[in-house]
Amino acid sequence: MRKDEIIQILDDWNFWNRDQRIGLSRPIYTSRLEYLFSSNQVITITGPRRAGKSFVMRQMIKKLINNGQNPKDIMHVNLEDPRFTESGVLFLEKIFQAYREYISPQNTPILFLDEIQEIEGFEKWIRMMHELSKAKIIISGSNASLLSRELGTLLTGRHIDMEVFPLSFGEFLSFNNIAFTNKLDLIGREWEIKGALRKYIEYGSFPEVTLSEQKKEILLSYFEDAITKDLLRRYKIKKAQDMRSIAKYYLSNIAALSTFKSIERALDMSITSVKSYTGYLEQAYLVFPLKRFSFKVREQEKSPRKIYAIDTGLCNAVGFRFSENDGRLAENVVFMALKRQQNLNPNMELFYWKDVHHREVDFVVKEGLEIKSLIQVCWNMHNEKTRNREMRSLAKAMKELNVTKTMIITDETEGEEKLHDNKVKLIPLWKWLLTEEGLLPAEEFNRN
Ligand SMILES: Nc1ncnc2c1ncn2[C@@H]1O[C@H](COP(=O)(O)OP(=O)(O)OP(=O)(O)O)[C@@H](O)[C@H]1O
Ligand SMILES: [Mg+2]
Repeated sequence: MRKDEIIQILDDWNFWNRDQRIGLSRPIYTSRLEYLFSSNQVITITGPRRAGKSFVMRQMIKKLINNGQNPKDIMHVNLEDPRFTESGVLFLEKIFQAYREYISPQNTPILFLDEIQEIEGFEKWIRMMHELSKAKIIISGSNASLLSRELGTLLTGRHIDMEVFPLSFGEFLSFNNIAFTNKLDLIGREWEIKGALRKYIEYGSFPEVTLSEQKKEILLSYFEDAITKDLLRRYKIKKAQDMRSIAKYYLSNIAALSTFKSIERALDMSITSVKSYTGYLEQAYLVFPLKRFSFKVREQEKSPRKIYAIDTGLCNAVGFRFSENDGRLAENVVFMALKRQQNLNPNMELFYWKDVHHREVDFVVKEGLEIKSLIQVCWNMHNEKTRNREMRSLAKAMKELNVTKTMIITDETEGEEKLHDNKVKLIPLWKWLLTEEGLLPAEEFNRN
């Protein structure tokens, strides 16, 4: 390709001569990026397909420009652009040269390289650019392992990751134009917020799905694309039907305990396939494993894992429906909210807890060496039996793990219960979500 042809394509993506569509703002990510920018590190943005990575990149570019950066100092390129007829590192270098010659940046350029996994061997080029301080680099891709394996070795200690996920509940409210500025406002809009939570659980929170009327159709197409483009093609999988069934299996069985063996039996597949397909689904950010808490690492590795999904909308569109699903979907929402926090706080670790008597606590939140809190999600607090069971499990885990901060996240029930010498907070999901995001003051949490 000639350099002027490359520039024509780049011109479509960049702010050099025009404004670009940046969508609704997602300050959680742009603030985080701004903070990471101050480090002299390569920044990698990963996350599932369609979560909004490219939009977040463009929002960041816009923010830099608003802060006074010359648009010509910034190059944004989508390496998946089908108009590019060449590939490989030499082509990447050619793109950079074209940009230098035709656009003439006056300061150290800032490169946003989107879908970098398309360039074979990009890691060495990035490392060279970074070491020679030729550019500041932000790369993105939608596969965890492709971005981390080689980069990990080539750029040890020289890169920071940020994951972009579908909308948090706070973002979801703002995408739905539900805004509140103070507590009074909030109380007036409680019903509206609860209604929004039902939609959040039902259709999930991919940005495009949130803004569209054709929610189910879009979700189904996301699933198909993930299977065919990200999994079958990338990993050269021949047994398409097996890949599809295992993906459906996980999306239908969120929050359930699973071992590779139990899936082998349920789906009649070899255990080798189950293991590798599960790994691919995790790398594509479609599902996440949650390990059991144990003081012994070996036991932790041996125990069954729980699988959660990236998005409850995807579960509802693709998975099979079970009657106990509401509670499970709520649990998934809590898991993803914790996962979002983990993104901002890499010290945080998540587990579930279970003892030999099958008493269970949904989430153990650990930070460094300290266990911060125990969280139970219970959608059925009115049922005496369920309530007692959840409380007993919490009591046992509190004792064993020596934790005092515990809570039960509910659909409606709010308040506080005494449990031996400790208190357990009961908080409705919508309130917990908004409190955790800092959209509700923490004292609201202690109102009762
Ligand atoms: N902030 C936003 N405001 C409005 N719409 C958005 C926003 N972010 C994403 N979208 C919608 O979601 C779609 C996918 O977003 P985007 O292309 O940024 O995702 P991505 O993570 O880069 O996906 P891919 O991995 O497929 O490249 C967009 O085409 C747009 O319709
Ligand atoms: Mg993209």
